Amino acid sequence: MDVGVWAVLLIANRWAHALAATLWVGGGLVYLLVIVPAARRLREAGHETGVAAWMNRQAGRVLGGGIGVFVLTGGIMTLQRLSEPEIGAAYIVVLAAKILLSAAAFTLVWKRGELFTGLSAGPLVGLLPAWLRSKAGLAVALGALAYLLAIVLQRIVEAALLAS
Ligand code: HEM
Repeated sequence: MDVGVWAVLLIANRWAHALAATLWVGGGLVYLLVIVPAARRLREAGHETGVAAWMNRQAGRVLGGGIGVFVLTGGIMTLQRLSEPEIGAAYIVVLAAKILLSAAAFTLVWKRGELFTGLSAGPLVGLLPAWLRSKAGLAVALGALAYLLAIVLQRIVEAALLAS
């Protein structure tokens, strides 16, 4: 394939991955900090409309779609990076941690069910702020850590390029 076309496809792939990350972390935070409390207030004020249950299903569908995008685009970037000569052990270790964190986040939303009610699993969950104590909250927090590791990966590549 023409080198220029290949470069455009790789940029589009990275763009799709970055958009999925923005949706997962940014969209997730807006959902947890704004929409879920608003739905709760409406319910407490006696305006139960069934919208909260619909939002739960819709959030599950959106996050589920994001998983497909992450696995496809992340898989392509992984193959691309691992074929570059500068990539060393540090990159591989951080990438493996990122994939494990992502897999844990994906598992939390995969089975859908009730995403936004409190988790009661173990004492560690009690250390989290209340808005994070749900399957969706943990999935967003793990996604934010995966985002952080993406920044670390980029720095590792930059450092390796500077050294070469
Ligand atoms: C919740 C899950 C995930 C989040 C939030 C996330 C986030 C990100 C972000 C923000 C970037 C930087 C994109 C850019 O601006 O260039 C990135 C890069 C990357 N991601 Fe993900 N990602 C996730 C899951 C995955 C998965 C499942 C894989 C592998 C199968 C993966 C592999 C990669 C790779 C290889 C890079 C390139 C890093 C580099 O060398 O610069 N990611 N990710």
